[in-house]
Amino acid sequence: MKKIAEDVFYVGVNDRVSPLFENYIPIPEGVSYNSYLIKDETVALVDTVEAGFAPEFFSKLDDCLGERKVDYLIVDHVEPDHSGSIVQLLMKYPKMVVVGNARTLSMLEGFYGYLENTYEVKEGDYLNLGKHVVRFYMAPMVHWPEVMFSYDETSGTLFSADAFGSFGALNGGVTDTELDVSGLYGETRRYYASIIGKYGTQVRLALKKVSPLKINMICSTHGPVWKEAIPKIMELYDGWSSYNASRGAVIAYGSMYGHTREMAEEVARGLVEAGVRSVSVYDVSHTDVSYILSDVFRYRALVVGGPTYMNGMYPYVESLLEAVAHRGIKNHIFGAFGEFSWGGVVGKTLRQFAADNGMALVGEPVECKQGLTPGLREQCRMLGKAVADALA
Ligand code: FEO
Repeated sequence: MKKIAEDVFYVGVNDRVSPLFENYIPIPEGVSYNSYLIKDETVALVDTVEAGFAPEFFSKLDDCLGERKVDYLIVDHVEPDHSGSIVQLLMKYPKMVVVGNARTLSMLEGFYGYLENTYEVKEGDYLNLGKHVVRFYMAPMVHWPEVMFSYDETSGTLFSADAFGSFGALNGGVTDTELDVSGLYGETRRYYASIIGKYGTQVRLALKKVSPLKINMICSTHGPVWKEAIPKIMELYDGWSSYNASRGAVIAYGSMYGHTREMAEEVARGLVEAGVRSVSVYDVSHTDVSYILSDVFRYRALVVGGPTYMNGMYPYVESLLEAVAHRGIKNHIFGAFGEFSWGGVVGKTLRQFAADNGMALVGEPVECKQGLTPGLREQCRMLGKAVADALA
C-alpha cells in the first residue's frame, strides 16, 4: 500500500511469476496489476487485480482500510487481469456497489454472475465520495468496448484503465517521481503496440476527450503512476496513436539456411551507408513479434524478408505480417526481399501485402534463387539505400 495523493492509495501488485501476458506476450520484466483506493467519507476502489494475486491484494486493502469497508468498486475495465478479484471482494464486502457503464455491468454479470448492488453511469456522470468527486468518461475500445476513464476532480487524478500502461513490474516504487522510468519507455511502447495499437482512432478520441482536464496524476492499470512525465507520456501516445513514427527502419526476416539473413545484413548496410542510423534487424524466429511490432510503431520503414516455404510465406514471417495488418499501421514505407529454391512466391506476396495495407512499396522486392551472388548483395544494399532515400 502506498499513498500517492491526498486520500488516494496504490493497492496493486506485481506479477513476476507469469512468463506471458494474456498467455501470449512475453513479460520477462513482469507486469503490475494496479488498483487504487480513494479513502474519503465513503471509500471507492478503482479496479482490482488478477485473481491469483488476491491474497496479497486483500492484505494491502486491509492495511489501508483498517476497520473501514469498500463502499464502491469502480470498474474501468472488465478484462480479468483487473476484474479477477471481484467475486472475493463481494464476499468480503457484500454491500459494495459496483460502478460501471451498461456494458461493464452486463459483461461483469457474464463473467461472474448476478450483481446485487450496481450503479450504472453514462458519459459525464459522477460519483460523490465526500470531498472527492469522480466523473466518468467513456473510452470504448481503448482495449475493450466497455472501457471508461474515471477522473477524480478533487485530486486531478485520471484513472485511465489500460491506457498509458506498461509492461514491467514496479521495482520498489509506484510513481514516476520515485522510479527511474527512463528505461521503461520501450516496454510502454511494446505494451501499446501489443495491447492498444490496433485502436489508434479510439485512443485519439479518448485523448481529445480528456485534454481539457487538469491532470496531476495518471493512474493506469499497469506500470507506473505518471506524475512529472505526464507531458512525455501524452506526447508519446499522441505519436503512437497517429502512427507518427520516426526516421528509422525495422528489418525483419525469416531464414532457414542463412540466405535471407545475409540479405537482411546487406539491406541494413545499405540503410546505414545512406545515413539512417536507427536500424533494427530482427530474426523473426528468435524475437517475439511484440518486440518487432514495438519498433514498427517507432520507425517509419518496415523491410520484410523470408524464404518461400511450402509455396507460401515462412510461418513466423506470416505471423508478423498478420500482426502488423491487425494494427492498421499507417504512414509507413515498405521494402521486401526473399529467397526461393525452385518457385518464388515471397516477392509477389509481400508486394500485395504492401498494397493491401496502404504501405508505399520502395522499389521492387529483391529475390534470390538458391545462392546469393555479388549482384544480389548489391541489389540488397541498393534496396536499403532506396528505403533510406524514401525516409528522407
Ligand atoms: Fe490490462 Fe485490457 O487489460
